[in-house]
Amino acid sequence: MESTIVVGLERLEYRGYDSAGIALMDDENKIFTVRKVGRIADLKKTLEERQLPPARAGIGHTRWATHGKVTENNAHPQVDSSGKIAIVHNGIIENYLELRKELEEKGHRFDSETDTEVIAHLLEEYLKEEGDYLRAIVKTVNRLEGTFALAILNSDYPDMIVGVRKDSPLIVGVGEGEMLLASDIPAILTHTKRVVILDNEEIVFLTPDGFTVYDFQGNKKTKEIKEIEWDAQDADKGPYPHFMLKEIYEQPKVIEYNIQKYIRDGEPLLLKDLNLRKILLNKNRFIIQAAGTSLHAGLVGRYLIERFAKVPVEVVYSSEFHHRETIIDDRTLIISISQSGETMDTLEGLRLAKNKGLEVLSIVNVVDSSIARESDYVIYINAGPEIGVASTKAYTAQIFILLLLALELGHLKGFVDNDELKHYIEEIRQLPYKLNAILYRDAHIQHIAEKYHKSNHFMFLGRGINYPTALEGALKLKEISYIHATGYAAGEMKHGPLALIDSSWPVVIVNPKTSVYEKTFSNANEVYTRGGKLISVVTEGDEKMKDISESIIEIPQTDEYLTPILSIVPLQLLAYHIANMRGCDVDKPRNIAKVITVL
Ligand code: AGP
Repeated sequence: MESTIVVGLERLEYRGYDSAGIALMDDENKIFTVRKVGRIADLKKTLEERQLPPARAGIGHTRWATHGKVTENNAHPQVDSSGKIAIVHNGIIENYLELRKELEEKGHRFDSETDTEVIAHLLEEYLKEEGDYLRAIVKTVNRLEGTFALAILNSDYPDMIVGVRKDSPLIVGVGEGEMLLASDIPAILTHTKRVVILDNEEIVFLTPDGFTVYDFQGNKKTKEIKEIEWDAQDADKGPYPHFMLKEIYEQPKVIEYNIQKYIRDGEPLLLKDLNLRKILLNKNRFIIQAAGTSLHAGLVGRYLIERFAKVPVEVVYSSEFHHRETIIDDRTLIISISQSGETMDTLEGLRLAKNKGLEVLSIVNVVDSSIARESDYVIYINAGPEIGVASTKAYTAQIFILLLLALELGHLKGFVDNDELKHYIEEIRQLPYKLNAILYRDAHIQHIAEKYHKSNHFMFLGRGINYPTALEGALKLKEISYIHATGYAAGEMKHGPLALIDSSWPVVIVNPKTSVYEKTFSNANEVYTRGGKLISVVTEGDEKMKDISESIIEIPQTDEYLTPILSIVPLQLLAYHIANMRGCDVDKPRNIAKVITVL
């Protein structure tokens, strides 16, 4: 039991890793908890030292702190006054202080600063009042405001685990003679590929031989058991030292898969296959809302869609989208981009759009994720599980899907003729080989990383369709190496940021052969003439940029509109190697997590 939970936590550690804990129920129905600040490896060591008795049920948690500092007392599981109820929680209870005050007035005493502990005491209170477990659970969850995925152990119900889902994801693993509950699929893949995805506002009672689901009013619900297509090794590092490196190297395979899936008879059939042609033809404006790397993919998507499909596109941070009175009508399509499909900022933006009666198309990686399930239309990017906190293969897959969407829509509208489409399909088919050509240069990029890994500042510059590449390259570096890295439009440097330049830190400039090559070369020269040290991503054979650069990374020649899929890979590898050389935890960087399910 204990090892099942710990292995599951290890597969979820990318979602949060401040502290971890486990609660087990022994054969005398006694619950004992073990909690540890630090990584799951630290918890594992403590568990081995403690020599715990065999258990019949258990829950575990790896934490990304929101309420309460990173201390053992604030680690999960949290328990009630009697120690009979243990709870783990993903999400935020917005009214926890009000509930805590109410419970303190009834004599409850709290040990932690967490919102989670309040849930345990509230359930304890309602069990006293109601007597019936389901009614007490229903009463408890209807008092909670905010987001929560819960797993609950209760000594009075020894062979049972209760799961509750409101906004934060929760799935049931249907095993042979065992039932599992987890926030994400990788945690249960080694046990079963049969899952039940809980919907919002659902309660599940798990016993060793089955599960029963209720809604928040206590009404029973039937649920479909689905077969997961992933295999356990997809969510495993394999021969790679880190998930991030594995996922960088998987990019050719992911692009090839999507080429095979969506390009047939010489044309992109993405929209046709997904029955989206009519919907998109009927829209005259797209608003893309996303966060982080997914937003950067959206910025590339704007260049692609406006170039090929002639639809005006606005791109906005999802965290900003729900604070604006955006002027929209029913011919506006909201496009949400999200790897995890669980980013709360993006989910909230989607809900706002739907509340305004708009249609939402989502471009998502995780199948059946919240964003996928709440959208009107979904395009999956088929990148497979992405575990490294720094998003890599999902980024290039998102751009690829946006490229196919733009080309197919442009061809349907007559803006892309057959010859042009043929040109792009030929260029697209070469992408996997060209991506591999860049990966073969990994050792060279590692050598460049060696040269600059001690620098505490980096600037990333790009222009046109590679301006988002500069933003994404900066994000990759800062989030895993903790270096201060800024991405900027190359043409903007002379309007101020050029004042920063001197010979003390490097400037990465992305300048493959495109329509903006000459202008970007001038920007590079502005940096060079002021003593700036240039690391330049250029098209193979570019001597001109070589003359003014301290380091050069070459990428194969490709059409301008495909360069963002290639030009980001050297920056992913550069960030990976620099972070490694600085001793940072590449897959689980400090302060952040893979999926941000809080606003
Ligand atoms: C990317 O490397 C970051 N980990 C982060 O910016 C991420 O892209 C962002 O949180 C959005 O996540 P999503 O794509 O799962 O919605």
